[in-house]
Amino acid sequence: MKNKPIGFFDSGLGGLTCIPHLIQQLPDERIIYFGDTARTPYGSKAISTIRNFSYQIADFLVNNNVKMLVIACNTITSTCLKELQIKYPHIPIVGIIDPASKKVAETFTSSNRIGIIGTKVTINHKTYINSILSYNPSLKLYDKACPILVPLIEEGIIDNKIMDLSIKYYLDDFINTHGIDTLVLGCTHYPLIRENIERLYPELAIIDPSKEIIQSIKHELSVNNLFSDDPDFKNTFYASDLSDNFLNMIKTIFGGTQVEVAFKNFDL
Ligand code: DGL
Repeated sequence: MKNKPIGFFDSGLGGLTCIPHLIQQLPDERIIYFGDTARTPYGSKAISTIRNFSYQIADFLVNNNVKMLVIACNTITSTCLKELQIKYPHIPIVGIIDPASKKVAETFTSSNRIGIIGTKVTINHKTYINSILSYNPSLKLYDKACPILVPLIEEGIIDNKIMDLSIKYYLDDFINTHGIDTLVLGCTHYPLIRENIERLYPELAIIDPSKEIIQSIKHELSVNNLFSDDPDFKNTFYASDLSDNFLNMIKTIFGGTQVEVAFKNFDL
């Protein structure tokens, strides 16, 4: 069981932002990733649609014999984590919001003004606010949905004025009105525009849940005695649309090393 892969999934390429952190901290773990690039974005869709899509992906990964499921998507974590844990009680399922919330609660105090940005669904669910307050009720938290950012990122529109203007459209007022000094990137696509945000708002402290989730993965592997001891493997990355941006990101992460990339889609 311990040498089986860890199954990661996201609505698209955003969840890939967790992978370099995993490789750095747990290099012997084998990965199967599914990005639903054909149906992204999820963050403005109905909850019932997000659930149907997520169940299809989770079934696919479980049928591929994963030892653990990692929901590398804040939108799916907000809406489906508990349901997926009930549906697959035999494997650990890790969401992305709890580990980042713990990090925020441990790192900051009531003198900080903490902003959380994410998709409409994630922000409407108040999952971050409730989760962070459960660890530290004295923190000052503010949130803001930024729905246009994910489609731009999936299109690869990052290093240019359109992205900068879109970020400013959402964040200028939000940051000034509330005096935000700390920003939680509450969508796994956002680390891909971290440099833009840091350039536009150099004074902000940034929390990246794509990095923090590795702590929860380590914890689950440890308590379930599931650390891999077979470093000889190939990672597989599935997408429902093998877009250039998806393929390029995998090339950037893995360079020349051998990775399998494959197409997989589902009936609606
Ligand atoms: N990466 C997903 C998240 O973390 C993306 C959202 C989307 O598809 O809208 O919420």
